[in-house]
Amino acid sequence: PLRRITVPAIRAGKGGTPLVMLTAYTARVAALLDPHCDMLLVGDSLAQVIYGLPSTVPVTLEMMCAHGAAVVRGAAHALVVIDMPFGSYEASKEVAFDSAARILKETGASAVKLEGGVAMAETIAFLSARGIPVMAHVGLTPQAVNALGGYGARGRSEAEAAKIIGDAQAVADAGAFAIVIEGVLEPIAVAITEAVACPTIGIGASARCDGQVLVGEDMLGLFDRTPKFVKAYGTMAAGVTDAATRYAADVRARAFPTAAETYQPKI
Ligand code: KIV
Ligand code: NA
Repeated sequence: PLRRITVPAIRAGKGGTPLVMLTAYTARVAALLDPHCDMLLVGDSLAQVIYGLPSTVPVTLEMMCAHGAAVVRGAAHALVVIDMPFGSYEASKEVAFDSAARILKETGASAVKLEGGVAMAETIAFLSARGIPVMAHVGLTPQAVNALGGYGARGRSEAEAAKIIGDAQAVADAGAFAIVIEGVLEPIAVAITEAVACPTIGIGASARCDGQVLVGEDMLGLFDRTPKFVKAYGTMAAGVTDAATRYAADVRARAFPTAAETYQPKI
């Protein structure tokens, strides 16, 4: 069996073959994606993808732990990273440690991810020094949607671009083992990738990042809302519709089940 990829191995991926990351929320999908990925992210995007919620703000630790444990059970090879949900880490570094420790203990995952830059640097250093590897997330940070006012690309002004680059430098200096850069103008992602010693993982960022991440369902073509930075490599929505259409027709025509799917008494 493949040995699970480690945090130091991901860190060592800086500047090498781009790191492959996808989100997964369930055991079966995780098992299918696992052999192809260096990392699987149990993203708080499960809010929209799995739960039909309007944003990631309502996501709870309980939800992340349940789905995180499922993904760890399903995936044997990829490093599993679990998003810390909004409200579980911002108040203090101690609160963050308790939440992150609970996530690692209940799921068996190896690392957590949290959103924020300069404001989270002290927390990232605190967790990193205490055995909890942290992936940072800068640029478009969806948990801050109420402050940002939407999901548009960030860094269109010089001041905002400089702030994002400063955020990335701060979390790198604090010991983040990798940084997700989401929804920024490409030159910002390139500047960060060149400036920091840890790998950058882009989403709506740049092909020059040290790796890429997408929401698994977006990549599979299963989700309805697809931002500019998504490329659908699959056609699962069409596949589901086609299968459900034919199943419903068969049931209504009494064409399912057939003898092949029916138990008969032994003669
Ligand atoms: O929640 C998520 O899926 C994420 C990725 C898009 C980076 O944070
Ligand atoms: Na997330």
